[in-house]
Amino acid sequence: MSNVLRIALVDPNDATREALKKVLLGMDTVWLEAECSRYEFFSDVIAQTHPDIGLVVIDANPDKALDLVASLGEASPECAVLVVSSSTDGNLILRAMRAGAKEFLAQPLRIEDLAGALSRIGERRFGRRDGKARGSQVIAVAGATGGVGTTSIAVNLGCALAAKDTNNVALVDLDLCLGDADVQLDAIPEYTLLDVAQNVTRLDFSLLKRSLTKHSSGLYLLPRPVQLEDAALITQEDIQRVIGLLKASFTHVVLDLSKSYNPVDLIALEMASHILLVIQLDLPCLRNVVRLMASFKEMGNLADKVKILVNRAGLEQGQITLKKAEETIGRQIYWQLPNDYRTMIEVRNNGVPLILQAPKAGITHAIVALADALHGDEESIETVGATKSGIGRLLSLWPNK
Ligand SMILES: Nc1ncnc2c1ncn2[C@@H]1O[C@H](COP(=O)(O)OP(=O)(O)OP(=O)(O)O)[C@@H](O)[C@H]1O
Ligand SMILES: [Mg+2]
Repeated sequence: MSNVLRIALVDPNDATREALKKVLLGMDTVWLEAECSRYEFFSDVIAQTHPDIGLVVIDANPDKALDLVASLGEASPECAVLVVSSSTDGNLILRAMRAGAKEFLAQPLRIEDLAGALSRIGERRFGRRDGKARGSQVIAVAGATGGVGTTSIAVNLGCALAAKDTNNVALVDLDLCLGDADVQLDAIPEYTLLDVAQNVTRLDFSLLKRSLTKHSSGLYLLPRPVQLEDAALITQEDIQRVIGLLKASFTHVVLDLSKSYNPVDLIALEMASHILLVIQLDLPCLRNVVRLMASFKEMGNLADKVKILVNRAGLEQGQITLKKAEETIGRQIYWQLPNDYRTMIEVRNNGVPLILQAPKAGITHAIVALADALHGDEESIETVGATKSGIGRLLSLWPNK
C-alpha cells in the first residue's frame, strides 16, 4: 500500500457522503481510513487516524466547514485538505483556498477531477516523503513502423508489471481498427473500449473494473472495438476521460498505440508519463525515429518523455550497430530486447504471456527488468548489470550470452 493515499471524509449529508464513499471505495489508489458525519468531530478523527487527505464536503454548513478547514491546517498540517461543494461561487472558492484547502472540487463530482486532484496531492505527498513521485504511471508503447513488436511489448510489459503485488495494471488497446492485444492474451472480452468510452460519464470505479477483462496474470485489458466502423465513434475526448479514469484506479496504465499517429494516439502520447518508442535496428525505423522526434519536439514535452527501445536486437548479422543507431537518432537507446523468434511465436500462438509461458527465457528477464526499471526499482537495474550509457544494458540477458 506504499502508493495508496489514506483519506478521511466528512459530510453531514448521508446521501452525498454515501455516494462519495462509493467512489472512493472503488479506487485502488486510495484507502478510506475514516468517515464522519459531524464537522465538530472531524479534527479528532484526523488527529487519531493521520490520513494523507481530509475530504470536507462543505454544503451542509459552509461557514462551519471552512472554520474546520482552517483549524485542520493549524492542528494537522500534514493532512492535505480537499474541499467539495455544489457551489462554484468564486468567493466561496477563495475562502476555501484562504482557509488552507489544497484543492476545490465541484459537486456533482466528476471522477476525473477527483482523480486529478488526488494525483496532484499524491505526487506532492509521496514526493516529499521519499523523494519519488508515486502517482499512476501511464506508459504509451508506440512503434517506429509496423510489426516492430509494439503489441508484444505492451502486453508482456503489462503482465510483468501486474506480477508485482503492489501494482494494479490496465492495458488499453488503442490500435482501434486492427489491434490484437486480446489475441495475445487469449481473452474473449465482454466489453470494449467503445462501451467504456460511451459510458465514461456514468461509470464509477467498480463498474469500470467490471468492464475490463482480467487476465490470469492479473492484468486488466480494455480491448479495441469489435467492428471496424466503431473506431470512428471514439473521440480524443473519450480517450482522455478513459485514461483519466484508469489513472485514478490503477498504478500503471499501459497503452498499445496504432502506427497511424492519429488524434487518439496523440492524446495518449500527451497523457503518457513514459513513451516507449519501439524500433528495430534497420534504416526505415531509424529514419522514422528521426522524423517522429522532430515532430514530437514541436508538441510540448513529448520528446522528453521518449525512451527508445530496440526490439529483436541481434536479429541479423548485418544489423545496424547500437552505436551507429544512437548517432543517427541523436539519443541514447534506453533498452534492448533480444530477438527470440521461437519463444515469441509460442507466446503468440498460445496466447500466453512470456512470464507464464517462458519465465526463464532471456527475453522474459529483459521484459521483467524493463518493468522494474520503469517502476523506478533501481535495485533491479543493478542486478542485471545495466550500464549507465544504456548501450550495454541487458546484454547479459541475451540468449546464448
Ligand atoms: N523480440 C522478439 N523476437 C522475435 N520475434 C518478435 C519479438 N518481438 C515481437 N516479435 C514478433 O514480431 C511480430 C510482430 O509483433 P507485434 O504484433 O507485437 O508487433 P506490432 O508492432 O504490434 O505490429 P502491428 O504494427 O501490426 O501492430 C510477431 O510475430 C511477434 O511474435
Ligand atoms: Mg500491434
